[in-house]
Amino acid sequence: MSTNTKSAPTIFVIFGGTGDLTSRKIAPALYNLFLDGWMPAQFSIIGTGRTKLTDEQFRANLLNDINQFSRSGKADPAKWDVFISNVYYQVSDVKDAETYKEFGKRVDKHNADWKTKANVIYYLAVSPNLFPIIASNISKAKLAEDPKRVRIVIEKPFGHDLETALELNKLLSSIFDECQIYRIDHYLGKETVQNIMAFRFANSIMEPLWNRNYIEHVQISVTEQLGVEDRGDYYDGAGAMRDMIQNHLLQLLCHVAMEPPVNFNADEVRDRKVDVLKAMRRFGPEEVRLSAVRGQYGSGWMKGKEVPGYREEAKVNPESNTETFAAIKFFIDNWRWQGVPFYLRTGKRMHQSSSVITIQFKDVPHQIFPNEASESWQQNRLIISIQPEMSIRLQVQAKRPGLDMVLNAVDMVFDYKGTYENQAPEAYETLILDTMLGDQTLFMRGDQVEAAWELVMPILSAWQHKKSLNFPNYSADSWGPESAEALIARDGFNWFTLPMAKK
Ligand code: BG6
Repeated sequence: MSTNTKSAPTIFVIFGGTGDLTSRKIAPALYNLFLDGWMPAQFSIIGTGRTKLTDEQFRANLLNDINQFSRSGKADPAKWDVFISNVYYQVSDVKDAETYKEFGKRVDKHNADWKTKANVIYYLAVSPNLFPIIASNISKAKLAEDPKRVRIVIEKPFGHDLETALELNKLLSSIFDECQIYRIDHYLGKETVQNIMAFRFANSIMEPLWNRNYIEHVQISVTEQLGVEDRGDYYDGAGAMRDMIQNHLLQLLCHVAMEPPVNFNADEVRDRKVDVLKAMRRFGPEEVRLSAVRGQYGSGWMKGKEVPGYREEAKVNPESNTETFAAIKFFIDNWRWQGVPFYLRTGKRMHQSSSVITIQFKDVPHQIFPNEASESWQQNRLIISIQPEMSIRLQVQAKRPGLDMVLNAVDMVFDYKGTYENQAPEAYETLILDTMLGDQTLFMRGDQVEAAWELVMPILSAWQHKKSLNFPNYSADSWGPESAEALIARDGFNWFTLPMAKK
């Protein structure tokens, strides 16, 4: 089995080792990195949590997780044996100094065995109220002394609002250098999202068109069929704006709207994204009323099954004012984008699960064909489908074969499935590998997170202060509230949806 010579020997300490994120995402990602030869020759994974488990029990649990959730299917026994011999468990209380002493001893032991100084990655896959406690205790135990070797990975949500995000950044930067902090937004690790940059900046034909002169509007739509599942306690305090727009959707917007970076260095790329966030038009109460729509799902039927409304979900306040849907019209006040609306939409319990960016170009300046020739006239569109279909399609007008001059819209499609044989890695594989390699390009820098909070705060506070009187206002298996259709229809457009591929 090959190993990755680019990464130094690495010790992963996973806080929340028995949690859902470890089971579904982190453990399968580590195992797949191992299978594909991306793990360093010397590595150790230490899961930690309150539950009392032996190494053997923890390893057996991980095997179950891998068998269930890994994209590579059931674990191969011979390869699994090698992988799992590097995995350990430490029962811990994150508030207790002893816990950290124990980590220190384990790190020292690995370093002595490996005759080297390993990198140590503290992965915080825990509830956000534990971030400050764990970070402070790592510092008190002097485990973060070496900025070159020690990194900390923080899952979202990064703060609950601007104030808490500022506080958390302040605390983290009193302990770690920014180059040690890896704030995860898993959308940035998605293959198709990374490809937006390649598509824009590795092709010369895009840039001349990529501006207000040719682009009429942009839509970013991330819809999910799932409801809140068992995350009611977290979600009811968050809602769609905090859970999706403040991070994932605004990051997608930054990829579409950013200026070309001078090079692919982490800070250069992140500087260009911060520029976008800073240039976005701020909302006052009137803009919130006119340009921001919220929704909450009611009960209904999904795929032949009756599903509860949001207020009936477990651990959700039966009178909850939390939005499970949001649609916002943003503007970016700079030379490239002045006057081009960016419509963002996200929601749970929607008709389709899909994440799609649609860039609609302006119409031709003069129509030479008679009306009857253009059966289904459609302005050019570039459609970047992030999931479940992974594709980029350009919609153009073409002449239909035949003796008449009849035009219709056709798609020029780049489809990952048809183009590449290799399975795309999961976002978490990309991101975990980058933490090992020390590449922060796909991670949120502190000022980026703050700029995104700053932008959404006026909307959040307006919504908090003014309860919605019509919740629930969309039913399960729909496209969200009617007001979201009206938001875009007022400007003469409609939400684009990609037809679902036949299975
Ligand atoms: C998470 C949100 O960050 O992203 C979830 O907390 C959401 O509510 C999920 O379901 C969506 O991610 P993906 O990768 O399934 O599109």
